[in-house]
Amino acid sequence: MSHQNFLTLLDLSADTLRNLITRAIELKAMQHAGTVHEPLKHKILAMVFEKSSTRTRMSFEAGMAQLGGHATFLSPRDTQLGRGEPIEDSARVLSRMADVIMIRTFEHEKIERFAAYSRVPVINALTDLYHPCQLLADMQTYLEHRGDISGKTVAWIGDGNNMCHSYINAARQYGFTLNIACPEGYDPDTGILQAAGDSASIIREPVEAARDADLVVTDVWASMGQEEEQARREQAFARYQVDSTLMQAAAADALFMHCLPAHRGEEVAADVIDGAQSVVWDEAENRLHAQKALLEYLLG
Ligand code: CP
Ligand code: NVA
Repeated sequence: MSHQNFLTLLDLSADTLRNLITRAIELKAMQHAGTVHEPLKHKILAMVFEKSSTRTRMSFEAGMAQLGGHATFLSPRDTQLGRGEPIEDSARVLSRMADVIMIRTFEHEKIERFAAYSRVPVINALTDLYHPCQLLADMQTYLEHRGDISGKTVAWIGDGNNMCHSYINAARQYGFTLNIACPEGYDPDTGILQAAGDSASIIREPVEAARDADLVVTDVWASMGQEEEQARREQAFARYQVDSTLMQAAAADALFMHCLPAHRGEEVAADVIDGAQSVVWDEAENRLHAQKALLEYLLG
Protein backbone atom coordinates (compact mmCIF):
# COMPACT_ATOMS: atom_id res chain seq x y z
CA MET A 1 0.00 0.00 0.00
CA SER A 2 1.70 3.17 -1.15
CA HIS A 3 -0.74 5.70 0.23
CA GLN A 4 -1.08 7.10 3.75
CA ASN A 5 -4.30 6.68 5.75
CA PHE A 6 -5.48 8.68 8.76
CA LEU A 7 -7.46 6.18 10.84
CA THR A 8 -5.93 7.19 14.18
CA LEU A 9 -3.46 9.80 15.41
CA LEU A 10 -0.86 7.03 15.58
CA ASP A 11 -0.85 6.71 11.77
CA LEU A 12 1.24 9.88 11.46
CA SER A 13 4.51 10.79 13.17
CA ALA A 14 4.54 13.37 15.95
CA ASP A 15 6.48 15.70 13.62
CA THR A 16 3.92 15.35 10.86
CA LEU A 17 1.08 16.00 13.32
CA ARG A 18 2.80 19.18 14.49
CA ASN A 19 3.45 20.31 10.92
CA LEU A 20 -0.24 19.79 10.11
CA ILE A 21 -1.19 22.23 12.87
CA THR A 22 1.32 24.82 11.65
CA ARG A 23 -0.04 24.42 8.13
CA ALA A 24 -3.65 24.65 9.36
CA ILE A 25 -2.86 28.02 10.95
CA GLU A 26 -1.31 29.23 7.66
CA LEU A 27 -4.32 28.02 5.67
CA LYS A 28 -6.65 29.76 8.13
CA ALA A 29 -4.81 33.08 7.69
CA MET A 30 -4.97 32.67 3.90
CA GLN A 31 -8.67 31.87 4.03
CA HIS A 32 -9.40 34.88 6.25
CA ALA A 33 -7.36 37.11 3.90
CA GLY A 34 -9.36 35.90 0.91
CA THR A 35 -6.36 34.25 -0.77
CA VAL A 36 -7.37 31.71 -3.39
CA HIS A 37 -5.41 28.47 -2.92
CA GLU A 38 -6.50 25.56 -5.12
CA PRO A 39 -3.88 22.79 -5.07
CA LEU A 40 -6.56 20.06 -5.22
CA LYS A 41 -8.16 21.08 -8.52
CA HIS A 42 -10.11 18.18 -10.03
CA LYS A 43 -9.53 16.02 -6.93
CA ILE A 44 -12.56 14.20 -5.52
CA LEU A 45 -13.31 13.40 -1.88
CA ALA A 46 -15.93 10.68 -1.29
CA MET A 47 -17.64 11.17 2.08
CA VAL A 48 -19.36 8.09 3.53
CA PHE A 49 -21.56 8.95 6.49
CA GLU A 50 -23.27 6.12 8.40
CA LYS A 51 -23.97 8.49 11.32
CA SER A 52 -25.26 12.08 11.47
CA SER A 53 -22.95 15.09 11.20
CA THR A 54 -23.02 18.85 10.99
CA ARG A 55 -19.40 19.98 11.48
CA THR A 56 -17.59 17.09 9.82
CA ARG A 57 -19.69 17.13 6.68
CA MET A 58 -19.64 20.90 6.30
CA SER A 59 -15.92 21.26 7.03
CA PHE A 60 -14.83 18.54 4.61
CA GLU A 61 -17.19 19.75 1.90
CA ALA A 62 -16.21 23.41 2.30
CA GLY A 63 -12.54 22.46 2.63
CA MET A 64 -12.49 20.52 -0.63
CA ALA A 65 -14.29 23.34 -2.45
CA GLN A 66 -11.85 25.93 -1.10
CA LEU A 67 -8.88 23.77 -2.18
CA GLY A 68 -10.33 23.63 -5.69
CA GLY A 69 -11.65 20.07 -5.50
CA HIS A 70 -15.03 18.46 -5.04
CA ALA A 71 -16.73 16.39 -2.32
CA THR A 72 -19.49 13.82 -2.80
CA PHE A 73 -21.79 12.90 0.10
CA LEU A 74 -22.77 9.23 0.33
CA SER A 75 -25.23 7.96 2.92
CA PRO A 76 -26.28 4.34 3.50
CA ARG A 77 -29.90 5.46 3.02
CA ASP A 78 -29.37 5.95 -0.69
CA THR A 79 -26.28 3.91 -1.62
CA GLN A 80 -25.81 0.16 -1.96
CA LEU A 81 -23.75 0.21 1.25
CA GLY A 82 -27.06 0.47 3.10
CA ARG A 83 -28.40 -2.54 1.18
CA GLY A 84 -25.59 -4.84 2.17
CA GLU A 85 -22.97 -4.40 -0.57
CA PRO A 86 -19.77 -5.68 1.07
CA ILE A 87 -17.47 -3.02 2.50
CA GLU A 88 -14.54 -4.53 0.57
CA ASP A 89 -16.40 -4.15 -2.75
CA SER A 90 -17.48 -0.60 -1.90
CA ALA A 91 -13.87 0.31 -1.08
CA ARG A 92 -12.58 -1.14 -4.36
CA VAL A 93 -15.19 0.72 -6.40
CA LEU A 94 -15.15 4.10 -4.63
CA SER A 95 -11.34 4.24 -4.61
CA ARG A 96 -11.25 3.86 -8.41
CA MET A 97 -13.27 7.05 -8.71
CA ALA A 98 -12.30 9.22 -5.75
CA ASP A 99 -8.82 10.51 -4.84
CA VAL A 100 -9.44 10.35 -1.09
CA ILE A 101 -12.23 8.83 1.01
CA MET A 102 -13.62 9.94 4.35
CA ILE A 103 -15.75 7.58 6.45
CA ARG A 104 -17.91 8.03 9.56
CA THR A 105 -19.14 4.68 10.81
CA PHE A 106 -19.74 2.47 13.86
CA GLU A 107 -17.20 -0.36 14.34
CA HIS A 108 -13.60 0.77 13.91
CA GLU A 109 -12.82 -2.60 12.33
CA LYS A 110 -15.07 -1.59 9.42
CA ILE A 111 -12.91 1.40 8.46
CA GLU A 112 -9.77 -0.74 8.77
CA ARG A 113 -11.31 -3.28 6.41
CA PHE A 114 -12.34 -0.51 4.02
CA ALA A 115 -8.83 0.96 4.08
CA ALA A 116 -7.27 -2.43 3.37
CA TYR A 117 -9.18 -2.56 0.06
CA SER A 118 -8.85 1.11 -0.90
CA ARG A 119 -6.39 2.37 -3.51
CA VAL A 120 -6.50 5.87 -2.08
CA PRO A 121 -6.06 7.48 1.38
CA VAL A 122 -8.85 6.83 3.88
CA ILE A 123 -9.69 9.34 6.63
CA ASN A 124 -11.49 8.41 9.85
CA ALA A 125 -14.27 10.94 10.31
CA LEU A 126 -15.36 9.18 13.55
CA THR A 127 -15.83 5.58 14.55
CA ASP A 128 -17.05 4.13 17.84
CA LEU A 129 -13.37 3.98 18.85
CA TYR A 130 -11.72 7.20 17.62
CA HIS A 131 -12.30 10.73 16.29
CA PRO A 132 -8.81 11.84 15.18
CA CYS A 133 -9.88 14.76 12.93
CA GLN A 134 -11.41 16.48 15.95
CA LEU A 135 -8.07 16.31 17.75
CA LEU A 136 -6.30 18.14 14.91
CA ALA A 137 -8.75 21.00 15.41
CA ASP A 138 -8.43 20.88 19.20
CA MET A 139 -4.62 20.95 19.06
CA GLN A 140 -4.72 23.86 16.63
CA THR A 141 -7.11 25.73 18.92
CA TYR A 142 -4.92 25.24 21.98
CA LEU A 143 -1.83 26.41 20.10
CA GLU A 144 -3.61 29.53 18.84
CA HIS A 145 -4.84 30.52 22.30
CA ARG A 146 -2.07 29.35 24.63
CA GLY A 147 0.96 28.18 22.61
CA ASP A 148 2.60 24.75 22.69
CA ILE A 149 0.56 22.10 24.51
CA SER A 150 3.56 19.85 25.24
CA GLY A 151 4.21 19.60 28.97
CA LYS A 152 0.69 20.86 29.79
CA THR A 153 -2.05 19.04 31.69
CA VAL A 154 -5.39 18.22 30.08
CA ALA A 155 -8.43 16.98 32.02
CA TRP A 156 -10.90 14.72 30.25
CA ILE A 157 -14.20 14.73 32.17
CA GLY A 158 -16.87 12.17 31.23
CA ASP A 159 -17.19 9.09 29.07
CA GLY A 160 -14.18 6.97 28.10
CA ASN A 161 -15.41 7.16 24.50
CA ASN A 162 -14.06 7.74 20.99
CA MET A 163 -13.05 11.33 21.83
CA CYS A 164 -11.36 10.20 25.04
CA HIS A 165 -9.41 7.56 23.09
CA SER A 166 -8.23 10.17 20.62
CA TYR A 167 -7.19 12.43 23.52
CA ILE A 168 -5.14 9.51 24.91
CA ASN A 169 -3.36 9.16 21.57
CA ALA A 170 -2.91 12.93 21.36
CA ALA A 171 -1.26 12.96 24.80
CA ARG A 172 1.35 10.55 23.39
CA GLN A 173 1.84 12.39 20.13
CA TYR A 174 1.68 16.01 21.31
CA GLY A 175 3.40 15.38 24.65
CA PHE A 176 0.86 16.44 27.28
CA THR A 177 -0.44 14.69 30.41
CA LEU A 178 -4.05 13.52 30.30
CA ASN A 179 -6.08 13.11 33.51
CA ILE A 180 -9.24 11.12 32.85
CA ALA A 181 -12.26 11.43 35.17
CA CYS A 182 -14.90 8.87 34.24
CA PRO A 183 -17.40 6.95 36.39
CA GLU A 184 -16.61 3.30 36.98
CA GLY A 185 -17.92 1.17 34.14
CA TYR A 186 -17.25 3.92 31.58
CA ASP A 187 -13.46 3.69 31.41
CA PRO A 188 -11.58 4.06 28.15
CA ASP A 189 -10.27 0.92 26.43
CA THR A 190 -7.54 -0.65 28.60
CA GLY A 191 -5.21 -1.40 25.69
CA ILE A 192 -5.35 2.16 24.33
CA LEU A 193 -4.77 3.57 27.82
CA GLN A 194 -1.90 1.22 28.68
CA ALA A 195 -0.16 1.94 25.39
CA ALA A 196 0.01 5.60 26.43
CA GLY A 197 2.12 4.76 29.51
CA ASP A 198 2.55 7.73 31.84
CA SER A 199 0.95 10.14 29.35
CA ALA A 200 -2.61 9.27 30.43
CA SER A 201 -4.20 7.93 33.60
CA ILE A 202 -7.61 7.55 35.22
CA ILE A 203 -8.05 9.94 38.15
CA ARG A 204 -11.77 9.13 38.61
CA GLU A 205 -12.74 12.20 40.69
CA PRO A 206 -13.62 15.14 38.40
CA VAL A 207 -12.24 17.90 40.65
CA GLU A 208 -8.99 15.97 41.19
CA ALA A 209 -8.59 15.38 37.46
CA ALA A 210 -9.23 19.06 36.73
CA ARG A 211 -6.87 20.40 39.42
CA ASP A 212 -4.44 22.90 37.84
CA ALA A 213 -5.32 21.61 34.36
CA ASP A 214 -4.52 23.88 31.40
CA LEU A 215 -7.38 22.51 29.33
CA VAL A 216 -10.67 20.92 30.41
CA VAL A 217 -12.51 18.82 27.82
CA THR A 218 -15.77 16.92 27.81
CA ASP A 219 -18.19 15.29 25.38
CA VAL A 220 -21.75 13.96 25.37
CA TRP A 221 -22.65 11.26 27.88
CA ALA A 222 -24.42 9.15 25.24
CA SER A 223 -22.67 8.98 21.88
CA MET A 224 -24.30 8.23 18.55
CA GLY A 225 -25.55 4.66 18.68
CA GLN A 226 -26.07 4.78 22.48
CA GLU A 227 -29.37 6.69 22.43
CA GLU A 228 -31.24 3.97 24.32
CA GLU A 229 -28.71 4.21 27.19
CA GLN A 230 -29.39 7.94 27.70
CA ALA A 231 -31.36 7.62 30.98
CA ARG A 232 -28.91 5.17 32.57
CA ARG A 233 -25.98 7.33 31.53
CA GLU A 234 -27.54 10.51 32.91
CA GLN A 235 -27.56 8.83 36.32
CA ALA A 236 -24.05 7.43 36.06
CA PHE A 237 -22.56 10.74 34.90
CA ALA A 238 -24.55 13.08 37.18
CA ARG A 239 -21.40 14.10 39.13
CA TYR A 240 -19.38 14.56 35.96
CA GLN A 241 -20.76 17.84 34.66
CA VAL A 242 -18.19 20.50 33.79
CA ASP A 243 -19.52 23.43 35.80
CA SER A 244 -17.97 26.59 37.20
CA THR A 245 -16.86 24.81 40.42
CA LEU A 246 -14.92 22.31 38.36
CA MET A 247 -13.40 25.05 36.21
CA GLN A 248 -12.25 26.83 39.38
CA ALA A 249 -10.13 23.78 40.27
CA ALA A 250 -8.32 24.14 36.93
CA ALA A 251 -5.56 26.68 36.22
CA ALA A 252 -6.75 30.29 36.19
CA ASP A 253 -6.12 30.55 32.43
CA ALA A 254 -7.53 27.10 31.61
CA LEU A 255 -9.48 26.70 28.38
CA PHE A 256 -12.68 24.69 27.92
CA MET A 257 -13.28 22.56 24.80
CA HIS A 258 -16.11 20.34 23.57
CA CYS A 259 -16.24 18.74 20.11
CA LEU A 260 -19.99 19.54 19.89
CA PRO A 261 -22.88 18.96 19.67
CA ALA A 262 -23.26 19.85 23.37
CA HIS A 263 -26.07 19.30 25.87
CA ARG A 264 -26.16 22.28 28.24
CA GLY A 265 -27.17 21.13 31.71
CA GLU A 266 -25.81 17.62 31.12
CA GLU A 267 -22.09 17.23 30.47
CA VAL A 268 -21.49 20.99 30.58
CA ALA A 269 -23.14 23.90 32.39
CA ALA A 270 -24.36 26.72 30.16
CA ASP A 271 -22.21 29.31 31.94
CA VAL A 272 -19.07 27.28 31.13
CA ILE A 273 -19.68 26.55 27.45
CA ASP A 274 -20.97 30.09 26.90
CA GLY A 275 -18.37 31.62 29.23
CA ALA A 276 -15.02 33.37 28.78
CA GLN A 277 -12.85 30.22 29.05
CA SER A 278 -14.73 28.37 26.33
CA VAL A 279 -13.14 28.22 22.86
CA VAL A 280 -15.68 25.85 21.31
CA TRP A 281 -16.52 28.07 18.31
CA ASP A 282 -12.86 28.45 17.32
CA GLU A 283 -12.53 24.71 17.89
CA ALA A 284 -15.43 24.04 15.52
CA GLU A 285 -14.08 26.45 12.87
CA ASN A 286 -10.67 24.83 13.05
CA ARG A 287 -12.12 21.54 11.80
CA LEU A 288 -12.13 23.28 8.41
CA HIS A 289 -8.55 24.50 8.48
CA ALA A 290 -7.01 21.42 10.12
CA GLN A 291 -8.70 19.04 7.67
CA LYS A 292 -7.59 21.20 4.72
CA ALA A 293 -4.03 20.74 5.98
CA LEU A 294 -4.69 16.99 6.28
CA LEU A 295 -6.13 16.76 2.74
CA GLU A 296 -3.16 18.69 1.31
CA TYR A 297 -0.78 16.34 3.13
CA LEU A 298 -2.51 13.10 2.10
CA LEU A 299 -2.87 14.18 -1.53
CA GLY A 300 0.43 16.08 -1.68
N1 CP B 1 -17.64 17.32 16.37
C1 CP B 1 -18.20 16.70 15.32
O1 CP B 1 -17.62 15.78 14.74
O2 CP B 1 -19.42 17.20 14.95
P1 CP B 1 -20.43 16.56 13.90
O3 CP B 1 -20.98 15.29 14.51
O4 CP B 1 -21.49 17.60 13.72
O5 CP B 1 -19.71 16.26 12.63
N1 NVA C 1 -18.69 10.97 21.18
C1 NVA C 1 -19.57 11.62 20.25
C2 NVA C 1 -18.82 12.59 19.40
C3 NVA C 1 -19.67 13.35 18.41
C4 NVA C 1 -18.86 14.25 17.51
C5 NVA C 1 -20.26 10.56 19.40
O1 NVA C 1 -19.59 9.60 18.99
O2 NVA C 1 -21.45 10.68 19.14
